[in-house]
Amino acid sequence: MVIVGAGTMGSQIALQTAYSGRYAVTLVDSVPEQLERARAQCQKLSARSVEKGRLSQEDADRALAALEFSADLKPVAQAQFVIEAIVEDLGAKRDLWRQLGERAVREALLATNSSTIAISRLASEVAAPERCCNLHFFHPVTVMQLCEVVKGPVTSEETIRRAMEFVRSIDRVPVLINKEVHGFIVNRILFAAAEEAMNLLEGGYASVEDIDTAVKKGLNWPMGPFELLDFSGLDVFYGGLEDRARLEGGAGAPTILKVKVERRELGRKTGRGFYDYDQ
Ligand SMILES: NC(=O)c1ccc[n+]([C@@H]2O[C@H](COP(=O)([O-])OP(=O)(O)OC[C@H]3O[C@@H](n4cnc5c(N)ncnc54)[C@H](O)[C@@H]3O)[C@@H](O)[C@H]2O)c1
Repeated sequence: MVIVGAGTMGSQIALQTAYSGRYAVTLVDSVPEQLERARAQCQKLSARSVEKGRLSQEDADRALAALEFSADLKPVAQAQFVIEAIVEDLGAKRDLWRQLGERAVREALLATNSSTIAISRLASEVAAPERCCNLHFFHPVTVMQLCEVVKGPVTSEETIRRAMEFVRSIDRVPVLINKEVHGFIVNRILFAAAEEAMNLLEGGYASVEDIDTAVKKGLNWPMGPFELLDFSGLDVFYGGLEDRARLEGGAGAPTILKVKVERRELGRKTGRGFYDYDQ
């Protein structure tokens, strides 16, 4: 198993895969210091799981020992399964996928963890595109159980069977999306809810606090839509809503969101979004 991209997601997918005890896992990154950061991150995450009683020290040690790190793509030639988790940039991903196509054996399953780039836009770079699919894990992978498995227009049933089986084998829960759709399932529903919450606010129907309270107490969501917007970053929602409008038509991001993004009121990370975190 090779995972390319040792950032936030790649290192967590590698760790979760290593926990299963079923795979030798190599984490690849083009930035050598990032591999050191990923190693430290995996040690920190597994230590926390041991502390919380979710993992034994023995299993944590075994998982960490099963992780290999590489600053080049040579290990791809030995892999039966490759997951790409590099930066969300179509050009960078296409360039990498061309190299994966040249190096991977023909039977290797190739997947991307991209949140927004459908597999058909990457599989076209490799021979045998029927072995490619999206595997969309959620942050943090070691806590969030879901993985959306997306079938591209030429993805084979065998690829989907292997992908679903892999996700189950690392103790995560797969759901199948039969054809490509922007945002898959979770982000479509999340974005629709956030958009509706902003429409209600803009229309003067209710306050930020009351909309969040209504959703938490009436739908039993752990966070309200504005709390979630602030937590994930308003720029992330802005990009997602604009992308959806570009691909499917519609109005794009609500004005209130555009204004906040222009003012760099991006949520928790800038200290201010729909709520103020400075006080
Ligand atoms: N962060 C999230 O919450 C989240 C959730 C689900 C899916 N995703 C998706 O996962 C992917 C990775 O996101 P992230 O947040 O982990 O990104 P990140 O920026 O934390 O990590 C990306 C890593 O890729 C490396 N990289 C870039 N180009 C490379 C190349 N050509 N070869 C090897 N390594 C390369 C970078 O050095 C970096 O370490 C994206 O496609 C994103 O859409 C992210």
